[in-house]
This record gives sequence, structure tokens and C-alpha cells, in this order.
Amino acid sequence: MKKFLFVFVALFAFSGAVRADEGMWLPSLIGDKIKDMQSKGFRLTAEDIYSINQASLKDAVVLFGSGCTGELVSAEGLLLTNHHCGYSQIQSHSSLEHDYLTNGFWALSREEELPNPGLSVSFLVRMEDVTERINAGEKAADIAAAAREDGRYSASVESLYYGNQYFLFVYEVFRDVRLVAAPPSSIGKFGGDTDNWMWPRHTGDFSIFRVYADKDNKPAAYSKDNVPYRPKKFFTISTKGVEQGDFTMIYGFPGTTRRYVTSDFVDYTLNHSNPVKIDLRTKRLNTIIAAQEADPEVRIMYASKHANIANAWKKWQGESLGLERLGTVQKKQAYEAEFQKWANNRPEYKDVLPRLHAAYDELLPYAMARDLYSEAFSVVELMSAASNATRENWNCETFYKNYSAQIDRDIAVQVWATYAEQAEARFIPAYFTEQIEKYGSVEAMVDALFAESNVTSREKYEAAKAAGVDFKEDPAYKLVVAFSDISRNEISGKYNELNSEITELYHTYMQGQMDFEPERIFFPDANLTLRVAYGSVQGYEGDDAISYKHFTTIDGIMEKDSPEVYDYDVPDRLREIYRTKDYGRWGINTGTEEKPHLTVPVAFIATNHTTGGNSGSPVINGDGHLLGINFDRTWLSTMSDLEFDSEVCRNIAVDIRFVLFTIDKIGGASYLFDEMVFSE
Ligand code: ARG
Ligand code: GLU
Repeated sequence: MKKFLFVFVALFAFSGAVRADEGMWLPSLIGDKIKDMQSKGFRLTAEDIYSINQASLKDAVVLFGSGCTGELVSAEGLLLTNHHCGYSQIQSHSSLEHDYLTNGFWALSREEELPNPGLSVSFLVRMEDVTERINAGEKAADIAAAAREDGRYSASVESLYYGNQYFLFVYEVFRDVRLVAAPPSSIGKFGGDTDNWMWPRHTGDFSIFRVYADKDNKPAAYSKDNVPYRPKKFFTISTKGVEQGDFTMIYGFPGTTRRYVTSDFVDYTLNHSNPVKIDLRTKRLNTIIAAQEADPEVRIMYASKHANIANAWKKWQGESLGLERLGTVQKKQAYEAEFQKWANNRPEYKDVLPRLHAAYDELLPYAMARDLYSEAFSVVELMSAASNATRENWNCETFYKNYSAQIDRDIAVQVWATYAEQAEARFIPAYFTEQIEKYGSVEAMVDALFAESNVTSREKYEAAKAAGVDFKEDPAYKLVVAFSDISRNEISGKYNELNSEITELYHTYMQGQMDFEPERIFFPDANLTLRVAYGSVQGYEGDDAISYKHFTTIDGIMEKDSPEVYDYDVPDRLREIYRTKDYGRWGINTGTEEKPHLTVPVAFIATNHTTGGNSGSPVINGDGHLLGINFDRTWLSTMSDLEFDSEVCRNIAVDIRFVLFTIDKIGGASYLFDEMVFSE
């Protein structure tokens, strides 16, 4: 009885209708959701969110680069995103002399805005359900090709619900995107990796770009003759601020969620993949941190790499804790047991779970080999240099600008030792083993490699190139070949085969879950297509006895101030502003009328369901006005790609008023306000 009750309660808690605030919805299919949104404080219509007939909010939201979101905030192409989304661009313009990472950057005129080769922003032109066409036999590639209209657009067909639905997405892509402003890292990355994925947070995580177009307002490659792009729509900025309970909506490009996978996948993540990946990244990070502390030049060179490695590394740790805490594996097992009972007399679904389970069992060694390949082999940057060098036209400048052979060597020693120890014998190239045996240890082998290779520095590479050396004979390239052979012959083939089988099975299992729970509304897993999430501004109850408020202020920045600690070194200018309470129009009173307390809001949290890719997304109020810029989730939310817990899951946004305060008081760039539109 007790057991039955547990299963029942677990099942009920896990499924049922999608609980409050879970879900990332397709803007063109907002459908019935709009009523729920309106009942919670949204005052616009579905047509205001997405329309192909008139300008709508979707025309003010872009995919920024290949993994962030940005939003237009002026009629002249001004765009906001996160500091961490523009990080590599800010870094690429930085040197010890012009250290924009440290000091910030503020273009004083259009001429001073900095071009960023390789950066693009994509506007969604339209999306279209093409399920019937695909089911009638049309090829996804052909549908996308036709939609490109001879290169005018970019387009792709994406599968939703594991191929139970297909959508065509058509984008207009702009490639002249210039850096307009960035706060100093001591604001834009305040709290650094220490505070990353945590609340309370005090980061002014924003940067400003401008989209340029040709004279006809069409996309064009960078040219000094280009002019600011005139968007169909841009966001009005709300300076009213947020209160507990206020409606919020996030409009952006969430990357990946896996809401409907079986317990097998969660078990793999929790008990196999995460531990190995975390361990390998710990080794890399320790090496990089030591080198950065020893040398300020290395600090800049490795800033972006460091942030990228640390971000997922920390997230995986929170995710594992969250999955343990929620008992996601056990809940899914209980759900699967109920599903199986129901499926037993339905031939179309009867075998799907046992087959998925068997396929995952078979997949495990290959999935682990792949994890090791990507986290313990490819991460040695010399391997990329070696393969790049075999190409005729390698532009080596960006690579070597941010490369330290010493750090790479130290990392190689550790991660390759892990590969040799942990990979199954059949996944270790014979050549790799021979080399280790030849030199007696991984360390000695790595030292010999770095001594003999011609690609460990720009000088060596260019000298070798001038001397006509064949880079295919480079000892580093031999390792690349040995590992790619293993990957191709022993790992990828089998992995891809099993993975396609699993995807096919999920097609059925997804359909099965929908039949099993006909009342439940299933949102399609995130896949870096445009989505709407909505919720409200809310604090939460954390660990025993701790309640978290929904917003932070500049007081918290000063509480964390610690000049000796890199992540908490408040800029002098901000200290001075705080001391004199020179907050101007950005000051708010969090005290009472009799006992006022003047401060500046910094960040806030809300219940919107978000994931990686939602960085930079506009956080919008009930009138469709901009309240803030999304940049993170809290520690207790890090498992929400697999299980969303509406009690505690919160997205974190920088309050737009802190962005404006920083532009005004730190950047002295209030001229940017002239092109913005504000609502009180
Ligand atoms: N955790 C956020 C995201 O997933 C912010 C990452 C950038 N910040 C950092 N300290 N590394 O992208
Ligand atoms: N920081 C993340 C990003 O870059 C967003 C936070 C999240 O994963 O929720 O997309």
C-alpha cells in the first residue's frame, strides 16, 4: 500500500498538466496559452507577439551569434545582449594598452563603433508548420532551400516532439554588427565564476551593439558605407521597475531541453557523463587559473576560454545535485512503470520502453567514449592547430593570439593521462599507446610532442610553412589522425546508429506519452528556435530557514566589495557614487517615507522557464515593454533542462534600470538614451 502510494504521488507530482510556468512555447502557436497569459497580467494579443502581417515583438528579437539572444531598443539598430554574450568580441578588441575587458568601452560616436568579423544576428522572418509536407515525402533540405529565395534568407526545417511535428524557420541574417559599449568586467562580470549560477546576484551583465545594413536596409557585409539598420519593431523600455508577483515574459532562443527522455538518459547524465566531464574540466581550470594568477597577459588571453570551461563545469555540478534532490531518475522510473502498464495492451507502444532501455544499455560505452574524446582529447588546443595547419589558407592569427603552449602542455599531460586510464582499450588508438610506451610516460610523451611539433607557436608555424614543411608529417597531426580514425571507426558509426534508433523510438514514446496523458499540454523541447516563456517575478524558499527576495541592489555590490578578490573588486567610480549616493534618476527608496533608504536596483528573478541560449533575452512586462535582460538561472534551477521545479526554479535578469544607471553614471554615455523610447 505504502509503495503504491509513493508511486502514485510521485507520478502525480511528476506529470499531470504542465505545472505553473513550465514551458517554452512556439510564438506562432501561442494559441490557448494567450488566455492564461492574459489572466496573469499580459495586456497584449497573440498577434502582438508574432505576426506575419504586421510588425510584432518577434521583429525586435534576434539570435545573437550562434548561441545567445539579443533585442533591438532603438529605431537605429541599437541592440542589447549580455556582457558574456559579447565577451569574445570585447576580448578581441582588448589588449594590455586598450583593455576594454577591464575598463569597459563606450563609443562616443558612430565612427568609434567597432566591427566584429564573424558575428551575425538573425531575425526570424516567418515560421511555418511543414509536418504534412514532410509526411507526404518532401525533403526537409528541399523545403529549406526553396525558402532561401536565392540567398536572400537563411532557412532550416526543425523537428519538434521528436519528429511528430516539423517547422520551417526563415531568417534574415545581418553580418555587420558593431560594438557600441561594454561596462568594465568589474560590473559586467561582477561576481565572476564565483557567483555564476547563483542568487543573490549583482552582475551588470549587458553589452551594446548596433546592427548595420546597406542603404536599402538589407543585410550587407561590413562596409563603412553601411548605415544603422531600421528594425520593423524595437522595445520600449520600462523604467517603472518590478514588484513581487508582476507578470513577465521572456522572448528568446533557448538551446536544449530534454523534458521527455527516459530515466536511462537521466541516469547516464547523473551517474556517468557529468562526473567524468566535471573531473576533466576541474583539471583544466586549475591549470588555467594558476597561469592567469601568475601573469596579467595570460589573464586576458584565457579570459574567454576560462569562462566557457567554467560555465558548463559549474552547471553540471548544480544539475547533478538537483537531479539527486528531486529524485528524477526514480520519478521517471515510476512514470515509466505506469506507462508500461497502460501500454501493455497497446501494440504500438508496448515495446517502446523496453527497446529504449536496451538501446541505451548498448549506447553507454559509446556515449562515454564520445565524452572522453571531446573532453579529454580534443580539448588539447595543439590538436586544432595541427589540423588547421594542414589547410592551405589557415589564418593563424586569432589562434596564436590567445594561445599558451605551456598551459596547453600542462593540460595535455593531465587529460591524456585520464584518457589512457579511463577509456576502454578498444577506444585508445594504438599509435597513442605506442608513443606513451616509447617515452615511458604520458608526461614524457607530451614533452617530446611539444618539442618536436611545428605548430606550438606562430613563429615555429610560419618558419615551417616558409620552409615548405609538410604539416601532415607533424607529430601532433599524427595524433589527430590516430584519434579521428578511432572516433570514426570505433565510436561515431555505432554511436550514430544507436542514436538514430533512439530518436526513432522517442518519436513513438513521445506520441505514447501524449496518448497516455491526453489532458496534458506538452511544450516542445527547446532547440534554439524562437520561444516564449512566461511567469512572474518571485522570490523563493531556499535551504533550511533561508528565503530569497526577488531583487538585489547596489548595497549588495558594496557588501561584496573586496579589492583583493578579482571577482569582487568594485570599480572606484562605483564606490564613489555609492559613497555620495549620486544615483540621479536611478535611485529608488526601499525604506519608508519617514525612514527612507536610497539605493539602485541591480538584478531580479522570475519563474520563467529558460535555458542556455536565453542569455540576452528581453524580459518583458504585461505591456510588452523591456524590464531587464535575462542572463542566468539560480543554483537550484540548474537541472531544469531535465526537470523543472516550479517551487524553486528562477531565471535571473539584470534590471534595465541598472543597465541605464551604468550607461549614465559609469560610461557617461547617456547620449545613447536619445535614441531609446521610455515608458514610466
Ligand atoms: N551561467 C550563465 C550562462 O549560462 C552566465 C555565464 C557567463 N558568466 C560567467 N561567469 N562565466 O551563460
Ligand atoms: N547564461 C545562459 C546563456 O548563456 C542562460 C542561463 C541559462 O542557462 O538559463 O544562455
